Amino acid sequence: MSKLFVTGRQKLSGEVCVQGAKNSALPILAATLLTNGENTIHNCPQLSDIEASVRILRYLGCDVRRCGKTLLVKSDDVDKYDIPDELMRKTRSSIVFLGAVLARTGKARLTFPGGCEIGPRPIDLHLKALRKMGVVIKEKHGFLECEAPKGLCGAKITLSFPSVGATEDIMIAACLANGTTTIINAAREPEICDLADFLSECGAQIYGAGEGVIIIDGVGRLDCTNHTIIPDRIVAATLMACAAVTGSSITLKGIVSNHIASTVPVFEDAGCTVKISRGNLKFSAPQQLESMKTIRTMPYPGFPTDAQAPLLAASCVARGTTVFVENIFENRYRHTTELVRMGANIHTEGKVAVIEGVSSLYGAKVQATDLRGAAALIVAGLCAEGVTEIGGIKYLERGYEGLELILSKLGANIKKI
Ligand code: UD1
Repeated sequence: MSKLFVTGRQKLSGEVCVQGAKNSALPILAATLLTNGENTIHNCPQLSDIEASVRILRYLGCDVRRCGKTLLVKSDDVDKYDIPDELMRKTRSSIVFLGAVLARTGKARLTFPGGCEIGPRPIDLHLKALRKMGVVIKEKHGFLECEAPKGLCGAKITLSFPSVGATEDIMIAACLANGTTTIINAAREPEICDLADFLSECGAQIYGAGEGVIIIDGVGRLDCTNHTIIPDRIVAATLMACAAVTGSSITLKGIVSNHIASTVPVFEDAGCTVKISRGNLKFSAPQQLESMKTIRTMPYPGFPTDAQAPLLAASCVARGTTVFVENIFENRYRHTTELVRMGANIHTEGKVAVIEGVSSLYGAKVQATDLRGAAALIVAGLCAEGVTEIGGIKYLERGYEGLELILSKLGANIKKI
């Protein structure tokens, strides 16, 4: 079981290329099931969540090869429509395979997805939408038995919440459906646009991705393409938080400024300077951070829930009080109990966390329990006095590609043992 040991208070400096977005790569890999020929997916990070999707694709009969950061996926020989429980449980996003397998084979048999423990993560919106598209779904002994007796049919679907996963699942299911599908109150995240770009390059007819209403006209077939995954906006926010708490200046390369438009002002409130030009982001932090205005997590283009944990860790050493309101997931403050062990002054109640900044954190033995919480503990360790020992590193590896190596190169004292 590996652990990270961080000796804090080292300044960071230098340049980093931000990895490809995990949350784009996962639905795009599922969507390759709909295509004929070999897809080339560039900038696909090496992460345990991606490997879990690759295992599902291979189980279903796809040929998947990795060449560095490029994945080659050929789905011509898909011969299964079930996904074993062991594979479904590895990630939450395995549920996007439901729409993809249905679109490909007209039926699907799988169990409920797994993923990080950040509160209840129902799939009712996915199931309701697919039922509207003509899928008969039976829940038996923990399995979802799904079949579209007349094939998938276009439908008008109104989401009660702009769920990212449900929007992706419906988009994938709709591409080869009979007729037109309209998604009202669709998620608008950049990863939705990346999925739409991939599918459109394959021949899908999708209009309005990135807006609240997406229209998909079903087509007869999809071909393969060559696609590059967008940069990961949450990794970018995490690296900014690392530089912020250490009073450092770093450059992030490969940034799309619109994607981080709601996180940058939070760092600016804290006294940091952010300049973006031609995909390069120059970040510079003061010696002491100021408290941030109240931060409310919201669907895109609001402040992302995934950036809450690393930013909250940074606020622990800011001068004054910062308030977070977590509106997306119910149980997303588990990292705070570990931050308190490091000397942070945090009170949480329901959706709200109140952080009174302290002059310094100190190293302690802490345990990550989810992906972004693990990143928060690294942020805290980087500015703490002494050594922080972080367990639960498997969570970090779900979404950050070699974060400890990147931080080491920037000058941090961080070792995986
Ligand atoms: C995706 C991201 C995750 C991010 C989240 C919100 C991936 C692989 N993961 O997760 O990193 O934190 O978006 O930006 O892209 N909900 C329901 N019923 C459903 C579906 C969702 O009630 O059928 C609720 C969830 O419980 C949650 C909220 O909707 O409270 C948001 O979930 P959703 O947008 O679906 O997140 P994911 O797609 O799981």
